Amino acid sequence: MSGGRILSGMLAPHPPHLVYGENPVQNEPRSEGGWEVLRWAYDHARESIESLKPDVLLVHSPHWITQVGHHFLGVPELSGRSVDPIFSNIFRYDFSLKVDVELAEACFEEGRALGLVTKMMRNPAFRVDYGTIVTLHMVRPQWDIPIVGISANNSPYYLNTGEGLGEMDILGKATRAAIRKTGRRAVLLASNTLSHRHFHEEPALPEDMSKEHPERYDSYKWDMRLIDLMRKGKMREAFSLLPQFIDEAFAEVKSGAFTWMHSAMGYPELEGKFYGYGTVIGTGNAVMEWNLEEAGLSELEPAFHA
Ligand SMILES: [Fe+2]
Repeated sequence: MSGGRILSGMLAPHPPHLVYGENPVQNEPRSEGGWEVLRWAYDHARESIESLKPDVLLVHSPHWITQVGHHFLGVPELSGRSVDPIFSNIFRYDFSLKVDVELAEACFEEGRALGLVTKMMRNPAFRVDYGTIVTLHMVRPQWDIPIVGISANNSPYYLNTGEGLGEMDILGKATRAAIRKTGRRAVLLASNTLSHRHFHEEPALPEDMSKEHPERYDSYKWDMRLIDLMRKGKMREAFSLLPQFIDEAFAEVKSGAFTWMHSAMGYPELEGKFYGYGTVIGTGNAVMEWNLEEAGLSELEPAFHA
């Protein structure tokens, strides 16, 4: 009808260490570098966005936690200082962003029509969470593309993994419908780390890479098992393993972004482009892309079944 489509979806994790290691002007603390392999993986994501030229970037962040319902940023322009509550020593970032409020409101309406509790965030002084900011900075440091920010409803933790991810599946379908109806050319960003067991003490110099490695070998093996399936496009199998992965590797995908993104894309059995993997304080992080436009899969049908 109006030609809206999802160009691509990216697994785009948000450790603030990546911004800290890059030393952009917006971040106050200075570093000697660090986490280069993971940071350079994001170069591929940046190149892809540059060539796809999307109208909007949608990001679902585990660190904008909402207890009741799924919330959407609903203020046209937001700016301020985003601080990581745990790593305030390395992330104090001055952000300034534009929101695609029309698309956000369409997501809100479509979600509500599918039975979700949804809410628009209208506070003009809202401090955008560091997960949203880090993911957006790492894929598009120019900040010249409007965004839609989506909260992580707490249902996978408050209820259980199955019910919570069921909500994220519906949220994905709502997002898909909203993109289609508003005619947007969109890129989706799942702001999720994989295995999430981490060290509890930071080195004196946070970027001392001689101290960086997987916190546990079994978590690392879980990450490689999932990445291997995703690289091969065996997404059905990857999703069937997700609950066990979440339980055994304490994976951050529990918070829903990964499920939301793949649901919106229609769960394509498409090979994920692997851009890089690295640990951050022991957690496992992969940057990957499912480029629907390139694969000829970006046209959205009005209805589909997972
Ligand atoms: Fe996180």
